[in-house]
Parts: sequence; structure tokens; C-alpha cells
Amino acid sequence: MAHQSALIATDIHAYLKNQAEKGMLRFITCGSVDDGKSTLIGRLLWDSKMIFDDQLAALEADSKRIGTQGRDLDYALLMDGLQAEREQGITIDVAYRFFSTDTRKFIVADTPGHEQYTRNMVTGASTAGVAVILVDARKGVLTQTKRHSYLVSLVGIRHVVLAINKMDLVDYSASRFHAIREEYEVFAAGLGFSDITAIPISALQGDNVLTASPHTCWHSGLTLMEYLERVDVAEDAVVKPFRMAVQRVSRPDLNFRGFCGTIASGRICPGDEIVVSASGKSSRVMRIVTMDGDLQEAIAGQAITLTMADDVDISRGDLFADPQNRPEHADQFEARLVWLHEEAMFPGRNYLLKCGAVTVPAQVTALKYKVNVNTLQHEPAKTLTLNEIGVCNLSLDKAISFDPYRENRATGSFILIDRMTNATVGAGMIDFALRRATNVHWQALQVTREVRCDLKGQRPCVIWLTGLSGSGKSTIANALEQKLCELGRHTMLLDGDNVRHGLNKDLGFTEADRVENIRRVGEVTRLMTDAGLIVITAFISPYRSERELVKKLAADGEFFEIYISTPLDECERRDPKGLYKKARQGQIPNFTGVNAPYEPPETPALVIDTAKMSVEEAVQLVLEQIKLA
Ligand code: ADX
Repeated sequence: MAHQSALIATDIHAYLKNQAEKGMLRFITCGSVDDGKSTLIGRLLWDSKMIFDDQLAALEADSKRIGTQGRDLDYALLMDGLQAEREQGITIDVAYRFFSTDTRKFIVADTPGHEQYTRNMVTGASTAGVAVILVDARKGVLTQTKRHSYLVSLVGIRHVVLAINKMDLVDYSASRFHAIREEYEVFAAGLGFSDITAIPISALQGDNVLTASPHTCWHSGLTLMEYLERVDVAEDAVVKPFRMAVQRVSRPDLNFRGFCGTIASGRICPGDEIVVSASGKSSRVMRIVTMDGDLQEAIAGQAITLTMADDVDISRGDLFADPQNRPEHADQFEARLVWLHEEAMFPGRNYLLKCGAVTVPAQVTALKYKVNVNTLQHEPAKTLTLNEIGVCNLSLDKAISFDPYRENRATGSFILIDRMTNATVGAGMIDFALRRATNVHWQALQVTREVRCDLKGQRPCVIWLTGLSGSGKSTIANALEQKLCELGRHTMLLDGDNVRHGLNKDLGFTEADRVENIRRVGEVTRLMTDAGLIVITAFISPYRSERELVKKLAADGEFFEIYISTPLDECERRDPKGLYKKARQGQIPNFTGVNAPYEPPETPALVIDTAKMSVEEAVQLVLEQIKLA
């Protein structure tokens, strides 16, 4: 099976050039196998006499090897895109299929339609310009049709084809077709689509897929393929304000300084003024450099290198923008978040947020609600689990430049990455910047941390004891504080049980609450070390991720993670509060070590097994560690 072009046999380079110059449409098909999705895709591929993409890639590689520099960037981008996803740890299964006709190239994202594959669908739809939503003419608009439509609108697809399939099984009934179309239009009115094109088809019989069906004379519109060949989505990105994230600064020699990236939206010409969003500095474009020579104009989707008239300070991650139409720049915003990972999202946990070419530490500060994807109702929630979608506030360690997603998909989307595993755990769409932090400024205080420390004659630090309940954390912490006080040190002891009577009395022991417990304690220890105190903490703190977070809050060399490694059976034998017994009887849910996890530190400053060591010995070891012995 091969694309029906005589050029393939006679002049492969001309064929590839021809392919490269054709426009590309990415679309997604939504529906289940029962709706005839596989049949439809199969028919599109077969009837368009497509060429397998791996064959084409091989041809392209061959043509490069023998020295012809085609401008065939799209294929490379396709492969790169997949590779980048793989590097990001996305193991989400989306089948991308490539085919082409005489006028256009297509990449169709094919994902399963069930609710447990929501993340696959969102991933597949995120780069698509058009969604083909399949409906079985016998069944009409179903819950899943609504769910798919919501997801499609969530990722910002504006062009929708309602492919009403299996028309042959309803005798090509015009009234059936119109009834489904009308029902769908009423439902979709609030989803923000710019156009909905209903087409009566039979994927099996081929009606209105490529050629107009003789059975639906009452339908005067386009066939599916005609629609896909004509729909105008490229314009969408080109008419938007200019945006380009600087992926790389190119300095081959002292005379050349270029800024490389792919234009996310808009167009640019030499002489145009652009602004670096973060710094507000602006300059004029001198040259648009590409492998094929300088350009007089470049548009969205093109990979280019810009040189500027002035020596402005620009680095990787900066966002170039139209000075008349600047992006937002903020460190807090509201976003819709799709959770992609088996491990749930917890507000307060530290993730890495990647938006364009920048990556910054970030936290979800509040989960406002999650969306029931079947009813579209808002439901209260404390966490997001795999495939769930929620609206939340995020706070970043550093401000980034972005646009609201509804205005610009390229500059308004981000992913969240797990700091430990480097896996992509969430995909987000920014709604708007939160203004609440913008009028709050850090107050410079006259009495500094250094003054407070000097007055106390000590260097502050955090001695963070972690381990199972009953492992001896509180006992060691107590003895340690006594010893430090004897040595004339200024201290404070924060103990899990005690803090949970006051500051954290609203928190329980779910994973989400424990994350928040440790986050707050981390902030308190920071205030206390700023006050010049030696802070001892005794919290189970079962998650590595939060211990890393509190460690990061402390100054260099001032955080000591001490693992009280007393084995579970010994803790359970001691059972000082009778809690293990209760937990074993099923009376305490989420009890660490019994029915909730404990993640031991990987590189603690010190390990203390109280089964093998006296309290005095343990205290002595800690004092040596913090160099106060
Ligand atoms: S943490 O996991 O969030 O760090 P924290 O150290 O504050 O826990 O509190 C632990 C103490 O709470 C335990 O020593 C125990 O006395 C009590 N506790 C009550 N319920 C639980 C539970 N489900 N898991 C662990 N500890 C519990």
C-alpha cells in the first residue's frame, strides 16, 4: 500500500518536497470501537492510499543521507515530539497515524474512549486542531459523547465534526440525523466550539467518508475527507500575537548571537519590535535565520533563529512577545489540571512545572473542585487521582510568562513533573493569573537573621527526626533538647502529636493531610531558624517528597535529616500509645507501617536504630553530627 503518487517511483526527492510543502492537520477521533472508530480510521487510511509513516521516514532518512536538504521538518518534529514525551516518562499509549492526500498531510490521534483512558484522550487531543466525534446513529448522543466533547473543549479544540455513523443501519434517515444533530448542538452550546459540522456517514459502507453518498441526497454538506482537507486551523495560530520561547542561545562565534525557537503563534519580519516578557526589555529583529537562508517573514510553527539589533540580555526560557500585546507574567495562577499518574496529586506537594522552555518548582496551593467528566458537575475533593480533572491554584517559586490557555494553547499549557522520578504526572491549562500575590511585597527588616543569631551566639539549624510511630523520635528529641539547653543553646522542639493539637488540628492522616502537615511544619521551622533557633522536629514525615521540600526551605548546611530506623516489629512491640494494636484490629485507617507507607530516607545525615543504642548514645551522635559535641 502506498500513496498514489507516480513521483514515488520516478523522483523520490520531488515527492518528499511535495509532501513537505503540504499543510498538516492534526485531528483526534473520539468514540469507542462500537461506534465504528477503528473502521473509520481504517477506511481513511486505506481509501487515501496512505503510505506508512515508517516507510516515509526511511525514505526521508535515505534522501538526507545522499545529501539533499529537504525542508521536511514535519516528520522530524513528529518523531521528536514522541521522543520528548518518552524522555518525560509519558507512557501513555496514544497511537498516532499518519496519512496524506493530494492536498494535505494528516496525523490522527487514536485513543481508547473509555473513562479510564481519559489521560490518553487528553494527551492525544492536546495537539489536535479538529476533533471527529463519532456517534452511532441508532444510539444518538450518549454519556460518553458528552464526556469526549467536554475533554475536546477542555484542551481547546474549536472545530468539531459530529460524525453520525452507521447511517446504513437507520435507512439513511434524514430525520434521525437531524434529531441527533440538534440534540448535540443544544448540549455543546456551552463548550465554546467555533463550529460543529455534522456529517451522516457509514464508515463500513464508505458513505460520505471520501465521496458523497448516493443514499443521503438530503445532505448537501461536505464529506468527512473534504472537510478535513479544507478546514482552516493553521490560521488560528498565525493571527494570534507573536510568541516564541527561546529554546537555545546560539553563539558560534563572537560576531553572531542568535535566539533559537519555534514560533508558538503569530508572525515576525525583520524590523519588527519584540519584547522579552520577563524583563520588559525590547529590541528589533535584525535577521530571521534558517538552514535554508534568511527569511523575510516567519509564521507560527516554524523553527527559526532570530538576531536582534541591540545587545539585550536574553537567555533560554525567555518568551519573546509582541510589545503591543504582551503575555501575563505571574507566579500564581488558576488552572485546570488533568492528572496523568497512578500516584495522586496532593496540594502542598512540590512538583516541577514545565511551561514552554522554562521549568520551575511549583505547588498546587488549593484544589477548588474536581469535575465529574460524565455529568460535568463540580465535586469537592482533596486530591486528584489518575484521570481526574480539577480546577486549582498553583504557586511557582519564580514568575513565568504565559497566556490564558483559551487565548493561546501553546503558551497557556504546562506539565507537572514528579521531582523524584521525573515522570510527567499532570497536564495543565492556565485560566488566569491570580492577583492576590501581586500587591504583597517582601518587607525588608532592620533586625536580620544574622543579628538574631549573633545575639544568641549560635548558628541555627533544623534537626529533623523521621521514622515510624513508636520509633523513639520524641524521646530522643526531648533528651536532645535538654542537652542543648544545658549547653546554653536556644532551642525549640516541634513534636507531631503536639503540633496536631494546635496549628494542625484540622489535619488527619490521609496522604493529602500528611503532605500539608509537613509543609506547614517546614514553614514554621523556617521562621524559627530565621529567629536564630536550633529547631528539633519529631514527625513521622513518611514521604520523601515532603522531607525534600522542608530541606529546601532551610539554608545550606543547616538541615540534618536523622532517620530513626527502629524496625517496625520493635515499634509494634513497644506500642507506647497502644495505636499499633488498634491499627491491627482495623480501628485506625492509614496507620503508618500497618496500612500506610513509610519511605525511608535515601541519604540521611545519620541513622539511629534505637533497638541497638541507648538514648544517651543517640543524643551524642546527633551532637557530633551538628558539631556541638
Ligand atoms: S505525619 O505522618 O503527618 O508526619 P505526625 O508525626 O504528625 O504524622 O503524627 C504522628 C502521631 O500521630 C503518631 O505518633 C501517633 O501518635 C498519632 N497517630 C494517630 N493516627 C495515626 C496514623 N493513622 N498514622 C500514624 N500516626 C498516627
